[in-house]
Amino acid sequence: MIIAVDGPAASGKGTLAAGLARHYGLPHLDTGLLYRAVGLAVRAAPGSTDFDREAVAAARRLDAAHLTDLDRLTGAEAGTLASRVAVIAEVRQALRQFQRDFARQPGGAVLDGRDIGTVICPEADVKLFIEADSKARMERRARQWEARGQLVDRYALYHQIEERDARDRANPHGGFFRAADAHLLDTTRLDIDAALRAAVAIVDGVLASKAASP
Ligand code: CDP
Repeated sequence: MIIAVDGPAASGKGTLAAGLARHYGLPHLDTGLLYRAVGLAVRAAPGSTDFDREAVAAARRLDAAHLTDLDRLTGAEAGTLASRVAVIAEVRQALRQFQRDFARQPGGAVLDGRDIGTVICPEADVKLFIEADSKARMERRARQWEARGQLVDRYALYHQIEERDARDRANPHGGFFRAADAHLLDTTRLDIDAALRAAVAIVDGVLASKAASP
């Protein structure tokens, strides 16, 4: 079974995808980490021609060993750089096969990102599109970083998230939209446990209706 979980920045899709993976005994790939690792590997300044060239080269040589420094990968700098490299068509293309291979391993997988249900796995058995309002998403990300002992400027963080969302939604190569067959889950008023229960109910419902149809 392949489960695709898409949604905007800090919507809780990563936590939900990890919870679904545990619940159904499936491997999980946070595809944002791939874009974050590529972003951190580029030395040139965003906007320069060298930036694009280096990003494509970094995407082509990316492997699992680049995905281990989670503290750095999940920080603000990596998030902003990720959304810069994510608009480069050749970067997306270079990362596509890695994600597809992960999804199509025997038994299936859970993948979260922006374009899993639209581009990477349009054939996914279940697609979830996670939403939450901008303030709730900012507050979650702030608490996540504060739990690691970081000082957080909430005003700056809110604007960072809005700016990144705008770039992601406008990305002509991004495939970031709700697939017609994706189930919408708004987690604004749900804590982690309630959101996971709601997601499991959706997945179980889809599986039951597939089993019932000839
Ligand atoms: O955790 P958060 O939602 O803040 O971000 P992420 O999922 O780690 O993704 C970081 C950035 O990578 C996004 O803002 C997108 O620009 C890009 N991304 C993408 O374009 N496609 C994906 N499948 C995953 C991430």
